[in-house]
Amino acid sequence: MKEGREALHKAALAYGTPVYVYEQQVIEAQCQKLQRHFPNVALRYAMKANSNPKILGIIRKQGIGVEAVSLGELALAKLVGFKTKDTSFTCASLTETELTTAAASGARIHLDSLTQLEVWGRKALGREVSLRLNQGIGAGHHAHVITGGPHSKFGITLDDIPEALQIADKYGITIVGIQQHIGSNVLDAGVFLRSVRVLLQTAKKFPNLIHIDFGGGLGIPYAPGETQLDLKRVAMEFKILTNAFKKSIGHEVSFAMEPGRFIVAESGSLLVSVVDQKNTSEHQFVGVNSGFNQLIRHAMYGSYHPIENLSRTRGHKASITVAGNVCESGDIFAVDRLMVRPELGDVLAIRNAGAYGFSMASNFNMHALPREILVSGAGRLKDISFVPSEYAC
Ligand SMILES: Cc1ncc(COP(=O)(O)O)c(C=O)c1O
Repeated sequence: MKEGREALHKAALAYGTPVYVYEQQVIEAQCQKLQRHFPNVALRYAMKANSNPKILGIIRKQGIGVEAVSLGELALAKLVGFKTKDTSFTCASLTETELTTAAASGARIHLDSLTQLEVWGRKALGREVSLRLNQGIGAGHHAHVITGGPHSKFGITLDDIPEALQIADKYGITIVGIQQHIGSNVLDAGVFLRSVRVLLQTAKKFPNLIHIDFGGGLGIPYAPGETQLDLKRVAMEFKILTNAFKKSIGHEVSFAMEPGRFIVAESGSLLVSVVDQKNTSEHQFVGVNSGFNQLIRHAMYGSYHPIENLSRTRGHKASITVAGNVCESGDIFAVDRLMVRPELGDVLAIRNAGAYGFSMASNFNMHALPREILVSGAGRLKDISFVPSEYAC
């Protein structure tokens, strides 16, 4: 969340804590920034980053499509009004029934393995399909989110392309698209562009391609000292590379990207209250009424989130470890962070929590999910709380 300290205060007062608060203007501005930089690219929001229906609606209204990875996401995207022509589906490990349902949805399907391609052919799920490739290039903020390279479970490797073409031939399937996603929170323009360059080379192995999807991964800085992704450079070089590719193949081809985090991360904050304090020989702990069941990024990836005290800005500074209320030692939001010492009752805003925050939340320890509040452009607060289990399948 970029601004809006006052709105956060109001939200905490009106709805209590813990609560997620999202700023609509930030989401819209991020959508528009991508559209300005990539005017000839079909943007498909990776809804795993934040699948709140109201937020999906805001993004859809900006003219952006959607990328889904499960039948639950596919159903929710449809309910929110995304058209199938603007929807793509990235397959993970799927049952044959799931793959059949996804194929029947009309969304663009990116198959993840030779096994899926066999099923696609044997069950005659479509005459055309697209493949997710693993070109050996991976990047991202943590090993868990690097999705290219030999350690990644995703995609069809370059070595397996000849076999994929044989399977397609056997069943009379045309490979009309390829996709890749190298990982999440990429801040290095060079790596992203290298993956674009290599995918365009690989594309030449598929004579009937009409679309190429470069995945998501565009990052945002979380920690002090992290630099912004040079979006201008990515956009400029991307344009040169794709224009040259189009010229070289001599027929129309469309391009897509699947940004998730970039669109929503900075719009959101998780507001929590200080409910406990404790000092050990090693740490000054401050306990809050939320935990990794509501924002798992630090526990899972060691991720940094800025933390702002909404109740006080002045006071004695100390090195504070912010701990959650879940019954595990790894339930920490920040370790030895220099900040004004929070007092009992203070409200802390854990910033940049709009992506992979609520969407990764659970009821672990039987805690309820936090509410979600939207701050509209006019500064009005709206409860947009959502119960994912009602949509999951
Ligand atoms: C296939 C695919 N596309 C897009 C994304 C979105 O990534 P990000 O939120 O980093 O943009 C992901 C994230 O896991 C993904 O797996």
